[in-house]
Amino acid sequence: MKTVAVVGTQWGDEGKGKIIDLLARDADIVVRFQGGNNAAHTIVVDEQKFVLRLVPAGALHPGRTCVIGNGTVVDPIALLNEIDDLRKRRGFDTKNLKLSYEAHMVMPYHRAIDQARERRAGKRAIGTTGFGIGPAYEDKMARVGLRFDDLTNYKAFEDRLRRNITEKNAYLKSVLKAKPVNGADIIETMKRERRRLLPLLCDTGEFLASAIAADRRLLFEGAHGTMLDIDHGTYPFVTSSNCVASGAFAGAGLGPRMLEAVLGVSKGYTTRVGGGPFPTEISGYLADSLREEGGEFGSATGRPRRIGWYDAVLGRMAARVNGLWGLALTKLDVLTGIDPVKICVGYQYKGSRYDTIPPGRHSIETAKPIFEELPGWREHLTPVRSFADLPRDARRYINRVGELIGVPITMVGVGADRDATIVLTNPFTA
Ligand code: GDP
Ligand code: IMO
Ligand code: MG
Repeated sequence: MKTVAVVGTQWGDEGKGKIIDLLARDADIVVRFQGGNNAAHTIVVDEQKFVLRLVPAGALHPGRTCVIGNGTVVDPIALLNEIDDLRKRRGFDTKNLKLSYEAHMVMPYHRAIDQARERRAGKRAIGTTGFGIGPAYEDKMARVGLRFDDLTNYKAFEDRLRRNITEKNAYLKSVLKAKPVNGADIIETMKRERRRLLPLLCDTGEFLASAIAADRRLLFEGAHGTMLDIDHGTYPFVTSSNCVASGAFAGAGLGPRMLEAVLGVSKGYTTRVGGGPFPTEISGYLADSLREEGGEFGSATGRPRRIGWYDAVLGRMAARVNGLWGLALTKLDVLTGIDPVKICVGYQYKGSRYDTIPPGRHSIETAKPIFEELPGWREHLTPVRSFADLPRDARRYINRVGELIGVPITMVGVGADRDATIVLTNPFTA
């Protein structure tokens, strides 16, 4: 297959970065289509750790073209800093990066609004990353956002930016009782950095269409996860974009028939960072040891991630909304030594059993997981490179997950390093 999307099937941080980096070996172009620097995709190469926020996770392979599509919201300064870091550490060349003219900018006032709202919400806070993602998408939908193509007419851009700063500062001060942003600083910074941004701009939709016509291999990099999707996730404890595979069409500018395979990514257990319902959540010694063993601290904000068992009800939902072709099940090595291992196979809700999420937006808040227990394994999995060499009980666990959600397991993660992955089927060569 030539066009493949990789999406998170849980609440983000499933290990998408590692899987995308692995598949990028076989791809020509890697494309982000939604979200912003609220994403944090970790890749470990020769014990060196890279956390990519905006630049697609193809950047560590020389010569891959990285595209940031129109559906994203991009903090220009965060992007420039990330590029500088990649240039220093990996010799990344910006001629390999294309940023859509139509992508929206995240401005300091978006961050200020995001953070002020979270502070004021207290216990009701969403637990956002505080990077201004929600407010930037609000401006996009309200048709007052600034797009990168606006930079090509700087005078008009500056006028609009000034108007936005005045309005947002009034809102920050009088409604949110927060400190206004320094407008002069923002304008000065944009004036200065514009020169570095303009050469990155591209009609990315046209570029991708031509690449498909020329038989190039395209990899679409989903950010966050299905349960954080603005429509399908645990609203309002979600992010502000469509993280599901269909987001790739609007967010990269291509038609639905252009995508041949969707690979979901899931941890062998579940994590969530931020507030909101989490039916299989656990606490105490087991949660602490999984958090420690799996390094479950947010890559974007350093917050400890909440921990729970694998939830096949949510897995089935993710399989449905994304039209999953296969699933990469990551971090199986972290489950070593846990016995028994539990999988949530259904929910108990208001006296009935459900295999899918019970109807009603709030059902997931009180639904009780029904668990199936499977025997654990004690072997260290990280050196294993073939499915047949995994311990019998690990294989049984993996197969059971695939059976419960009705999707073949095509990759298994056994360690953080780039190579610590068992590939059963590679979508580009299948
Ligand atoms: P992403 O946002 O989906 O790309 O995931 P993150 O990078 O935020 O979090 C996943 C974490 O798990 C990172 O620290 C990865 O290095 C690590 N990781 C990914 N796959 C595996 C795996 O199979 N085993 C282990 N032990 N760590 C993994
Ligand atoms: P990756 O791509 C995990 C969560 C935040 C918060 C909610 C809303 O690395 O998997 P936002 O700042 O987006 O408005 O916050 O969404 N969130 C993520 N959690 N991984 C992510 O991205 C996330 N992106 C957003 O923690 O609960
Ligand atoms: Mg992450």
